[in-house]
Parts: sequence; C-alpha cells; structure tokens
Amino acid sequence: MSAKIRRIGVLTSGGDAPGMNSAVRAVVRTAVGQGIECIGIRRGWSGLISSDFVQLDGNSVSRIINKGGTMLYTARSEEFMDHAGREKAIATCKLLGLDGIVAIGGDGTFRGALALSRQVAEHGNKLSVVGIPATIDNDIGCSHYTIGFDTACNTCIECIDKLRDTMQSHERCSVVEVMGRHAGNLALYVGLAVGATAVLIPERPVDFERDVIENIRRARLAGTTHYMIVVAEGAGKAFYIGEQIHEAIGIDPRVTVLGHIQRGGSPSARDRETASRMGYVAVQALVNDKGNRIVVSKDGRILDLDMEEALAETKEFQMERYDILEALTNNGTSRFH
Ligand code: F6P
Repeated sequence: MSAKIRRIGVLTSGGDAPGMNSAVRAVVRTAVGQGIECIGIRRGWSGLISSDFVQLDGNSVSRIINKGGTMLYTARSEEFMDHAGREKAIATCKLLGLDGIVAIGGDGTFRGALALSRQVAEHGNKLSVVGIPATIDNDIGCSHYTIGFDTACNTCIECIDKLRDTMQSHERCSVVEVMGRHAGNLALYVGLAVGATAVLIPERPVDFERDVIENIRRARLAGTTHYMIVVAEGAGKAFYIGEQIHEAIGIDPRVTVLGHIQRGGSPSARDRETASRMGYVAVQALVNDKGNRIVVSKDGRILDLDMEEALAETKEFQMERYDILEALTNNGTSRFH
C-alpha cells in the first residue's frame, strides 16, 4: 500500500519556457482533484531556501494555460547547488510537511533535483522529487521533447519570415543568431523550417568556407539574391559571422540576434498539451509512490522514468535533418553536382 501523499510542492527553475504555466496548472489541478494540497515554491530552488511559497488551489491556476513565463517566477540558485544550501531546503520541506516536489525546468533544474533526492535519502526522509523537462533548448537527453521548444521555434520562424521580406527587397544577406545554449536543436529545426541558406550548429564543427561561403555562392548561381544564415549561439556569434562574410565576399550582411524574445509568448498547442500531460503524469508518479522520477516524452508518449537512470541517458543528435537541409537548399543545387 503506497504511503498517502498529502501535500506537494511545485516549482519552476532555470530559464523560463512557454508552457511552464500550463505544467504548473496541470500539477495543481491533478493534485487538488485527488485531495492533495499544493504549495507553490517561488523563484525555483531558492524559494525552498528562503521559504518563499504560496498556497495554491484549483482557482490559483485559472487563466494561465495560455500565458508565457511562469506565475511562480524562476531563478538559478547558486546556494542550492551546495550541500549546506540543500540542508536549508530540506528543513523547509520538513517544516511544510511536503511529501513530494514537482520541479519544472531544464538540465540545471534536474541537477538540483538529483542532488536534493540523494541528500534527502541521507536523511532517511520520505520526500520524492519528480522533474518535468521545460526548456526551449530541447537538450534533455532522456526526453525526445521539452516544453517550450515548439513555441520558441514558431517565434523564431515568425521573426525570420519577417526578416526575409526585407532581405529579398534589398537583395541582402541576413545572419540570425538563435538560442539553444550548447545545443543546435533550435537552430537546425528553424533553419529547415525557413529554408535557410546555411545553418551553423555546435554539433557540426564549422568550416566557414564550406558551410557559409560555398552555400552563398551556390545560392547565387541558382539565381537567389538574398541569403539567410542561421547561427546557433553555441556555434558562434552572428556579428562575427557577418564580419567574416564581408571579408570573404565583400557583401555587407545584416545581423539579428533574436535573444530573449524566443523565451516569451503564449505557448503553442503542442506545448500546452504536452505540459498538461506531463503535469498529470508527474502527480500520478507521486501518488503511486514511484520515488524520484523524471517525466519524459518518448515518441509522443508521456511516461516517467527512474531519475538516476533517466539523467544518465543521452540522445543522439538528429543529423539527418542537416542532410535534408543541404539537399533542399538553393533550389536543390546540392554541393554534389
Ligand atoms: O536554457 C534556456 C536559455 O534560453 C538558453 O537557450 C540561453 O542560452 C539561456 O537560457 C539564456 O540564459 P539567461 O536567460 O539567464 O540569459
């Protein structure tokens, strides 16, 4: 017979992502529906250290499913990353009588969740931690998808489509830098979706002449007079790429760093639906006393995995998308002519 879960905490941590609110709503509504009290912990893990929390009920999370950002605020907590800071957090959990915590965020959030779960075990406490992957980077190894990625991609595509209008009019080259931290998932997905002339990602060592200049030359030969270069921030700085292009072929690119606009906006249908399912599965994992877990998306299915095992998983970068991009670029004038 599983121990009765009476009260859980929910928090959002790390870089915010559209859909975090949808996930918070699903956690609260699922818990309240089963007679479980919900405590919102503000500002990520630091809220556990500073006792920054708020009682939540079904009404607290009304009208947020379509809101970007996070109603619980978020922060990155240096203090929580050391043992003493987590001791304070564990004391707060005891004070609150928490039986479980749902932590919504990216890889930094999960590093905190793992460290907390291990330290709680040292205390012999019965507190389970369940992580929900939410980051626009889509760089969590155990999950095929992370909340926020789809919305961020659509934001980038909307911005780049606008840029393409003016680049076409002036027959210019545009260099656009997108987020993704050390991953190229966002850049490659968006590059394919906008028909970029070239995409630079950290997963593929950049050969500037091959990856940029040759692509521009082939585009020109194919009759194109405007060029769109998408750069993942982990692969380089758009302003530097622009200077290199100018030095190499004399054109004067216009550079756009999309920046934090990629983190905002109303979550897409995919992010709202995925977040709702993940929030529900997270609470069910606690109710069923499954221990420390990570909720993941595997081929569209939402399930929960053992935290230690999940966080040891890696996912292969889908380089075939890059091959497809090359095949479709420049009216099909591939380099292999
Ligand atoms: O991890 C999400 C992310 O948006 C990354 O893509 C980006 O590099 C980073 O956060 C920016 O962090 P901050 O919001 O602290 O500047």
